[in-house]
Amino acid sequence: MVENSLEPSDNQSSLATSQTCALSGSQQDRVELQTLDPNITHQDWIGRDANVVWHGFTQMHHYKDNNPVIASRGAGRYIFDVDGNKYLDAISSLWVVTLGHALSELNKALFDQANRISHATMLGNGCDTTVRLAELLSELVPVNDPKFLFASDGASAVEQALKIAFQYWKNIDIEGHDKFIALKGAYHGDTVGAMSVSDSGFYGDTFNPLKFETIFCEDLYEMADYIRDCPDGLAGAIVEPLVQAASGIQLNDSLGLLSLSSACNQMSIPLIVDEIATGFGRTGSLFASQEAGIRPDIMCLGKAMTGGYLPMSATVVSARIANSFLGPDLSKRTLFHGHTFGGNALAAAVAIEHLKLFDSYNVLANVKERSIQLHDALETIARQRPVVKEVRTKGLFAGIELNCDEFGDPLLARKVCAKSIEYGVILRSIGSTVTTVPILTSSQDEIDRIAWTIGDAIDQIVNQG
Ligand SMILES: Cc1ncc(COP(=O)(O)O)c(C=O)c1O
Repeated sequence: MVENSLEPSDNQSSLATSQTCALSGSQQDRVELQTLDPNITHQDWIGRDANVVWHGFTQMHHYKDNNPVIASRGAGRYIFDVDGNKYLDAISSLWVVTLGHALSELNKALFDQANRISHATMLGNGCDTTVRLAELLSELVPVNDPKFLFASDGASAVEQALKIAFQYWKNIDIEGHDKFIALKGAYHGDTVGAMSVSDSGFYGDTFNPLKFETIFCEDLYEMADYIRDCPDGLAGAIVEPLVQAASGIQLNDSLGLLSLSSACNQMSIPLIVDEIATGFGRTGSLFASQEAGIRPDIMCLGKAMTGGYLPMSATVVSARIANSFLGPDLSKRTLFHGHTFGGNALAAAVAIEHLKLFDSYNVLANVKERSIQLHDALETIARQRPVVKEVRTKGLFAGIELNCDEFGDPLLARKVCAKSIEYGVILRSIGSTVTTVPILTSSQDEIDRIAWTIGDAIDQIVNQG
């Protein structure tokens, strides 16, 4: 348990882990939201939302069937809907929230920066706050003499990485290095370049004509062998280190990453490590690359960079690669790429404060303790339930894969996650896997509650079936 563990600011933080905490009409999980019109209910908001908002990765025809939560307020590890119902955010709002929602220190950093300047372009100019962030990060990232190209979303950081690796070969006048090599099950984002290096399972074949050709390998060792055997056509290798989160928390290991990294070093192929999901403590180290003992040429950061406050991402590039872009002004060695809001000052100010808090809250120690607890609790649940096929955890990433085929219901995991909302816990399904990605400051009771909810929600859905 971290010493400075963040507790939600209202006094309803300690929901019991017993069955009585299910929301089913009970008043105990409600808070009064004075500012909201009491005549507009959560159900009304769901209807209004479905009318005008198009949700990503969501079949809008069934949007309302899966118990969506329309957030109205956040406090610590909790989210409140407009009716005042309280939910434990057990997916860190899609893996971005590290310390908690609505933290006074991060609010203050945001507000102070807004009083100075909110945004100044980084295209040909700079901003002192963004420089300070890059300086701070350069002491932390496992990249040699790093240069930071900021963007806003993860996919943009990946596009930048691909283009930088591709252009690197042109800069050094070596022809033919035009293809990327990636891992089966990879997910690097939804823009066309990122899709091209991601497993096609995420998109079906609809976009295939748009994608460029990529070599996919079954595992990291096959990647390493391919790089040693046929380096000539390769522009770069890309990998999510230790955890492929979007493919249902699939794990890889340090030895495989070391083997890949040494093949890349030996053949001078740029290694791009996508730490958009794993970065900032999620696996138990600040960066998964550190745990694996590798120093990539290019690293992609995003998601948790601002602790879940603002969209910010970065492509971190070693001097070896970045220096090849130096040349005469506006020459073709220039990287003709840049996003309007990249390096935004508000995001940078929050990211700086986030790094400071990360230390003072001793977050990594909590992740280590809570991850052992989560793993053991989920293993116990799995042992008692034949419907659970496999449990995969790394740090505070967990996937509970269900035997959907055997059970004859491809929507089993989805139904379990919809059920968990009735228990006041937000989970997310990926295919046949129920995932939980708890906020890094989660308490012992909250981890117990997540595990208990998963077990009970599974039982309810299986017994109904
Ligand atoms: C490893 C990885 N890379 C890239 C992305 C894309 O990030 P974004 O959704 O911010 O574009 C994700 C998103 O889940 C991710 O997990």
